[in-house]
Amino acid sequence: MQRQNTFSDLVQRVQETLAPSLAEDWPLLPVERAEGIFLYTPDGREIMDFTSGIAVTNVGHNHPRVVAAAQEQMEKLCHSAVGVVLHEPLMQLTQTLPKVLPENMDMFFFGNSGTEAVEGAIKLARYITRRPVIVAFEGSFHGRTYGTASVTSVKSKYRLHYEPFVPSVYFADFAYPYRCPLGEDPDTVTDWSLASLQKIFDRFAQPSEIAAFLVEPIQGEGGYIVPPPDWLKSLRRICDEHGILLIFDEVQTGFGRTGSMFACQSFSVTPDIMAIAKGIANGFPLSATVANRELMSQWQAGSHGTTYGGNPIACAASLATLEVLEEENLVENCKRMGKLFLDGLSSLRDQYPFIGEVRGMGLMVAMELIVPESEKIPNPRAVADLLEACLERGLLGYMAGLHGHVIRFMPPLIVTEGQITQALEIISNSLSEL
Ligand SMILES: Cc1ncc(COP(=O)(O)O)c(C=O)c1O
Repeated sequence: MQRQNTFSDLVQRVQETLAPSLAEDWPLLPVERAEGIFLYTPDGREIMDFTSGIAVTNVGHNHPRVVAAAQEQMEKLCHSAVGVVLHEPLMQLTQTLPKVLPENMDMFFFGNSGTEAVEGAIKLARYITRRPVIVAFEGSFHGRTYGTASVTSVKSKYRLHYEPFVPSVYFADFAYPYRCPLGEDPDTVTDWSLASLQKIFDRFAQPSEIAAFLVEPIQGEGGYIVPPPDWLKSLRRICDEHGILLIFDEVQTGFGRTGSMFACQSFSVTPDIMAIAKGIANGFPLSATVANRELMSQWQAGSHGTTYGGNPIACAASLATLEVLEEENLVENCKRMGKLFLDGLSSLRDQYPFIGEVRGMGLMVAMELIVPESEKIPNPRAVADLLEACLERGLLGYMAGLHGHVIRFMPPLIVTEGQITQALEIISNSLSEL
């Protein structure tokens, strides 16, 4: 069949051909190719991609090592249903991933996407504990399939018209320092969140009914919210006291993004189960539900499965991605560039009263915008205008948060000091235009 449509024809027709749930996103930027931190549009523009395809292309778009590994694997074997057929890249990955994961995280169920990794984590937790309840946190985003949508509370829009959800889910307050009603002191923020957990225990579900706490160590879609470090330690302690499993959704925070390989390492808290995806294969669809052997080995044959999970090309790409992360010292670069970026944005905060807060960890960096001189009234309009102004100048960022009032930046971890300086200049010029 001949292709009769040009790229620009197809772009014109996107509103007719793509579901609005996809096509009414921002900015629908037509891109022909990408390399490193740059996207190239058909009309010849070079855009700095400070979204990394939503925290995916951590080693940079089309890294030659990753592309070569995928091409090489493609020539040998494109698909195998794991279990029916075993292939080498998958088996190698089971040996390599434990070297970068927290200690004892050494058994894997591979899927294709973040949502599958979290679905697997929820199913595993219920299966092992024989308990029904999952406690998630307000502002969470865990995915779009039914199980993960049921534990997602970032926006009611993501839940509208989909009831009924998977039952036995309760939401506690995420430790959100900037919007803690009791003040921003880390101890107070922790106490506030723990009080909401106690309320769940008292009114809705006793600890003995709870299979797991499911938490993003730093909330992603919720607005790049960094909790006080002691809060996650408190969750760990409560889980240990009551035989509750602690699940970390590290889909967005993983693979170097926060200046450690995984955010749980930055916080020195080890979960029982992890969901990992996005940066795992630099753009090839791959994810994993991870746990220690003692726990995961209880998941009996046939109780969970997949056709495409652990695809050979994606696994080969993942192995190359892990090599590049290590050889190019990208986790260290992330830490340094993240600090530079955060410091630069923080200095802008003093000049612009509509920047409520600048926060982040590593290269997961955000600004929460508010109406100036208000009681922190969210300002999604300013975010939209700022994103447009940045894009006009060649910098792509993205929004987050309940009202879309947070602007977030997550460049590839290969970003250089010069590029961070350039991005800060663009942001500064764009802010002065608002
Ligand atoms: C923390 C978190 N969990 C899960 C998901 C879902 O991942 P996917 O879109 O690959 O299903 C996302 C996606 O943004 C995420 O940020």
